[in-house]
Amino acid sequence: MKILGIETSCDETAAAVVEDGQTILSNVVVSQINLFAAYGGVIPEIAARSHLEAIQPVIEKALKDANLTWSDIDAISVTHTPGLLGSLLIGTLTARTLAILHDKPLYPIHHLKSHIYANWLGDGSESGARIETPETVSRNSHESFVVSSPHNDGRERTRLKEFQSSTPAFPLLALVISGGHTQIIRMTKHNDFEIIGTTLDDAVGECFDKVAKILGLPYPGGPAIAEAAKTGNPHKYHLPHPKVKGFDFSFSGLKTAVLRAVQNELNLPISHPSHDLKNHLTPQQVSDFAASFQNTAVDILLAKLKDALKNYPDIKSLVFAGGVSANELLRKKAAKLPAFFPDKSLSGDNAAMVAAAAFFEIKTGVQPTDPYHLDISPRSAIS
Ligand code: KG4
Ligand code: ZN
Repeated sequence: MKILGIETSCDETAAAVVEDGQTILSNVVVSQINLFAAYGGVIPEIAARSHLEAIQPVIEKALKDANLTWSDIDAISVTHTPGLLGSLLIGTLTARTLAILHDKPLYPIHHLKSHIYANWLGDGSESGARIETPETVSRNSHESFVVSSPHNDGRERTRLKEFQSSTPAFPLLALVISGGHTQIIRMTKHNDFEIIGTTLDDAVGECFDKVAKILGLPYPGGPAIAEAAKTGNPHKYHLPHPKVKGFDFSFSGLKTAVLRAVQNELNLPISHPSHDLKNHLTPQQVSDFAASFQNTAVDILLAKLKDALKNYPDIKSLVFAGGVSANELLRKKAAKLPAFFPDKSLSGDNAAMVAAAAFFEIKTGVQPTDPYHLDISPRSAIS
């Protein structure tokens, strides 16, 4: 079954064709990151306008890259919630129109669900579901992994081989970590979601973005912080873990802790404008703050996930999902867990994961939606 996926929930215009929820036939992503770097964040009206310009050529390219015509497509899937209102509108209106025009079944998909299903993409050789620690593993031009790090021992090599061609097993815990969400979701079977933990304030990706801003690093903050952290000391600044009950998270305190630590380091008062702090930091201080923050954020995530794992002893897999799952330190620190990460290229927003999620919905008997009456919602819980 070949499904066309469409994704426009934030600042990526994406279309992809995926066969049977696993095999990527095409995957086109046009990112607006360059547009928003100057603003330090997404401007919703500009994002919507850019989606409008890009959506048609992106979909045409997805079909062309897959060497397919409309008659080969079995269904259309589209992100309809959550996200930026104007952005969601462009994708869903396009998908509705195409579904009517080409008489295809239409499946609306929750954005977090699609991030989780990025872990089923690939057949273990191309991309997707497998354990990958990017610092130590790279792929050769054929099917297997090449373990290239001198630090890698034989045990890790065996473990990687064992997992590389498999998909996550149920019951599982998914850690969804993106710019808008931080949640632990329990799944006992396909298309079945129970939120067992969520952030009480900021999302972890949002925290990366805000800390990057304090340090004078570009948007999006995650990759910029990871890069700066490479030359920093992760133990230079002590940043506290928040005390939050159960499996919930809180990240706004960590952002403030970085702000206070920077002010303290620079001997500047709390009243000093935060946007000016970056002008006083040396590159080494920026790296040390980036490394200390990244290390703390990753430890907070993993500590909660391990608590949840203890509480649910039947869990067979841990699935990482969302933009922050691209983080290399996180991948490294999770390497001893039964962890699945999407291919790094599929961690961020893309449409292949939307098509994969739709395939597993269809497999569990979900019926298509009426293309004349598809609603969008900027906020909604995964279902
Ligand atoms: O899933 P995503 O692409 O979009 C949303 O659904 O929000 O996630 C974007 C978030 C941003 O906050 C970005 O800073 C973060 O993912 N991110 C990272 C990394 N790459 C992207 N955070 C930490 N480390 C990274 N390597
Ligand atoms: Zn996302």
